[in-house]
Amino acid sequence: MSNALEVQNLHKTYPDFTLDSISFSLPAGHIMGFVGQNGAGKTTTIRCILNMAARTGGEIKIFGLDNVRDELVVKQELAAVFDEIFFVDSWRLREVEKVIKGFYSEWDSKLYYDYLKSFDLSPDKQVKELSRGMKLKLMLAVAMSHGAKLLILDEPTSGLDPVARDELLDILREYVADGEKSVFFSTHITSDLERIADYITVIDHGKIFYTGTKDGLLEHFRMIKGTKADLTDPLKRKFIGLSVTSTGFTGMLPVSEMQGLPGGIVTEEPDIDEILVYISKRQANHE
Ligand SMILES: Nc1ncnc2c1ncn2[C@@H]1O[C@H](COP(=O)(O)OP(=O)(O)OP(=O)(O)O)[C@@H](O)[C@H]1O
Ligand SMILES: [Mg+2]
Repeated sequence: MSNALEVQNLHKTYPDFTLDSISFSLPAGHIMGFVGQNGAGKTTTIRCILNMAARTGGEIKIFGLDNVRDELVVKQELAAVFDEIFFVDSWRLREVEKVIKGFYSEWDSKLYYDYLKSFDLSPDKQVKELSRGMKLKLMLAVAMSHGAKLLILDEPTSGLDPVARDELLDILREYVADGEKSVFFSTHITSDLERIADYITVIDHGKIFYTGTKDGLLEHFRMIKGTKADLTDPLKRKFIGLSVTSTGFTGMLPVSEMQGLPGGIVTEEPDIDEILVYISKRQANHE
């Protein structure tokens, strides 16, 4: 299986922050969700992939090509959707098309107008007349009309109502249905991941905490619940994250650390939200 995106040992240093040896790969034809706390380094990673920020080390390959050295070729294969819109407010959506198509050799006008229609966007509307969700749909229409094979989105679903979010997830799923196109998207909405991600990469304080299949992430950890008497020091040390109340505790353990637990302890499969919350507790416990 070839990779749409391959990030190897990516380093990026800011005065107060480092992306430290970020490595993951996204097999072509799949969707990868990118999650982690505010400030974990998601947008910085995406900016490095798009060469909007210069990396200080490592390699980024898009369909096997270097994202910096082969930038001109790579840009045709790649589409990005951000929180902000870059089009001029007074442009009508048909004018957006006229300007943008000049940048792409594989631009497909029919596809653009088909997307506008299916998104209920009139070509005569001006950019400034669009709501946030409509702007996002416009950016998606543009992103998906130039023959790109890798779509990269930074928090596309934040600020969308549940219906629009649902539609967007359907659009992304349809987009990869031919088995050739791939999507990499960051989100804080873990139900998005549950619905459409095949792969998940979790970043924590600039380091990769997990990268692999969604099912693998869920199978990797267990939530352990017990009384305070069960919470021995050796057990405490095994936890990735721990929350203690007056009556008992809940902790997250890797499945590999499960042997030898005291009797009476309850174990449950976590959901993605719990995993993310307990990763942050690990930091709190260790600081
Ligand atoms: N241009 C910059 N100069 C200096 N520091 C930066 C710059 N851009 C980002 N950072 C720092 O890098 C860190 C990671 O920021 P980043 O925007 O990548 O986080 P994020 O995971 O996208 O967070 P969020 O979920 O809030 O969007 C933060 O500490 C931020 O202050
Ligand atoms: Mg961000």
